[in-house]
Amino acid sequence: MSLKDFENRVVLITGGATGIGRATALAFAKRGAKVVIGDVNEQAKETVEMIKQEGAEALFKKTDVTSSSDVKSLIDFTVEQFGGLDHAFNNAGVLPPTKDFADMTEEDFDFVVNVDLKGVFYAMKHELAYFTTKGKGTIVNTASIAGIIADPGMAPYVAAKHGVVGLTKAAGIEYIAKGIRVNAIAPGLVETNMTKGWLEDEEMKKVVTANTPIGRPARPEEIAGMVLFLSSDAASYAAGQTFIVDAGQTAH
Ligand SMILES: NC(=O)c1ccc[n+]([C@@H]2O[C@H](COP(=O)([O-])OP(=O)(O)OC[C@H]3O[C@@H](n4cnc5c(N)ncnc54)[C@H](O)[C@@H]3O)[C@@H](O)[C@H]2O)c1
Repeated sequence: MSLKDFENRVVLITGGATGIGRATALAFAKRGAKVVIGDVNEQAKETVEMIKQEGAEALFKKTDVTSSSDVKSLIDFTVEQFGGLDHAFNNAGVLPPTKDFADMTEEDFDFVVNVDLKGVFYAMKHELAYFTTKGKGTIVNTASIAGIIADPGMAPYVAAKHGVVGLTKAAGIEYIAKGIRVNAIAPGLVETNMTKGWLEDEEMKKVVTANTPIGRPARPEEIAGMVLFLSSDAASYAAGQTFIVDAGQTAH
C-alpha cells in the first residue's frame, strides 16, 4: 500500500485512545490522512500527539458512543474541522467480566450491548446519513472472533459482536450501490488494555495464547492493516462482510 494512499482523506475513529484504535489512527496518519478520534478516555490526547509527531493532523473530541447525540456531534465536528469525512472506523468497545451465563445480570448485558452494539449502530446511522449526501464513503466496524464463534463466560459480548456482524451485513448490501462500502473486522486475541488482565496472569496467558495457532497475541498494528485495506480503493468490491484476523484461530 502506498504511503500516500490516504492523502487528504478524513478518517473518524471511535475508541482511538488506546489499542487497536490508536494503532489504526497512526497507520492512517502515516499514509496522509487527517484523523479525528472520539473516545471517553482522555488518553486519546496522547494518540493525537503521536500523530502530530508524524507530521499529520489529528483532533480529539470526547465522545460516549452510547449517546446518539454525542456521536452525531462527533461527525458534525469532523466535517466542520476538516471539511468532510471519507472513512469511519467504529471500534470503541468494552469487555464484560467473565461470568457463567446464569450469573450475568441485566446491568452486565446492558453495559456491553450499549457500547459494543448500540454504539456501532449510532455511529453507522449518522455516518451513513452523511455519506449518502456525498455518494461515497467507507465504514469498518470492529467485531471480533466472538462475533463468529462463542467463548465461554462472555455471552453478552458474543451477542453484541454477532450483532455487529449483522449490522455490517444489513448496511453492506443496502449501501454498496450508493457508493458506500461497509465491512467489519474480526480480530482474534490482541495485546491491548482489554486483554491486559489475561495476559499479565501467567496461567491465563498460557490458556488464551494456546488457542492461537501462532502462539502469541497480535500486536494492534497487525490488525490496523486490514482496516486500511478495507477502507482503501483496493477493496472496492468488498462489502457487507466480516474479515477475520486471528492467525487462523477459527480455521481449526
Ligand atoms: N483485544 C482483543 O483481543 C480484541 C479482540 C477482538 C476484538 N476486539 C475489539 O477491538 C476494539 C478495540 O479494543 P482494544 O482491544 O483496542 O481495547 P482498548 O481497551 O485498548 O480500546 C477500547 C477503546 O474503546 C474506548 N471506549 C470504551 N467505551 C467507550 C464509549 N462508551 N465511548 C467511546 N469510547 C469508548 C476505550 O476508552 C478505548 O480507547 C473493541 O471493540 C474490542 O471489542 C478486541
